[in-house]
Amino acid sequence: MARTPGRSCPRDYRYSPAVFACAADLEAQSLYIVGGLYGNPFALEAVLAMARRESATLVFNGDFNWFDVDPAEFESVNETVLKHAALRGNVETEIAREDEGTGCGCAYPEWVGDAEVERSNEILRRLRKTASAYPELRARLAALPMHLVAEIGGLRVGIAHGDAESLAGWRFSQEALRQHPGRARALLAGAGIDVFACTHTCLPVMQEFFTPRGAALVVNNGAAGMPNFRDTRFGLATRIAGVPSMQALYGTRLGQWVVEAVPVRYDHEAWIARFDRVWPAGSPASLSYRKRITSGPDYEVEQAVRAGAPTGSLVRVA
Ligand SMILES: [Fe+2]
Repeated sequence: MARTPGRSCPRDYRYSPAVFACAADLEAQSLYIVGGLYGNPFALEAVLAMARRESATLVFNGDFNWFDVDPAEFESVNETVLKHAALRGNVETEIAREDEGTGCGCAYPEWVGDAEVERSNEILRRLRKTASAYPELRARLAALPMHLVAEIGGLRVGIAHGDAESLAGWRFSQEALRQHPGRARALLAGAGIDVFACTHTCLPVMQEFFTPRGAALVVNNGAAGMPNFRDTRFGLATRIAGVPSMQALYGTRLGQWVVEAVPVRYDHEAWIARFDRVWPAGSPASLSYRKRITSGPDYEVEQAVRAGAPTGSLVRVA
């Protein structure tokens, strides 16, 4: 089958769900999982401050690069993120290696149009050009893992960029979770995971399941560096801690822990000014993302919150 750049899922993106049925790679008291920062330095500042206030562990689960084609910005975002636990997303994987015809590595499904896929490939080409001046950073990005298991006092949290089987998988997208929930339930049960945290598909969802282990969740934070809901101007991160956050938009309790979607409130005016300078009108990033950055996607909080019957506790709290 011919490979269309941006549509295919490279073979080396794949792994077995069994990789999550292992001892924890890291232990934490509380956790912020930050996916899809997309090179927004103001969102990065915001999540660093959020984690610092609570002495929480940060895990960046990929695509922390995207709009940061300015060399100084690229260097600064990566140097900062790489001080913390991090996974590589398709963006980091593709800029860390030579062009292999994979395009952006997004493995876009059929509901994403060809023009948008081509613009993503063009953004990736520009970012790869910037990255080529930083061989040491590229080597560090290439060496990042694709998945990890974190443990918080007995709660097992599987973290990946895409889904339980692929770095760029769409099985934990809000669309797939609605259409094929049985698949996600089987993956959670098989890996002995209580919370599966992911990103990549750009829209958030928190969906509750009941497995032989008890209640379990798939939490997709959408994007930390871009708005996720209609008429909003903040990103989203996943927070797991012992006490609820006053900021949470929605969340649930799993045993003694809360799992929440919390806003990443960054300086929008500063960010859009920076974005417009690097990606002016007519550029691929402006065409694909400017509207989302200024007024959010066509998606509501209610669509992201999916409680399980009959005893689900997942609620919207703000
Ligand atoms: Fe991604």
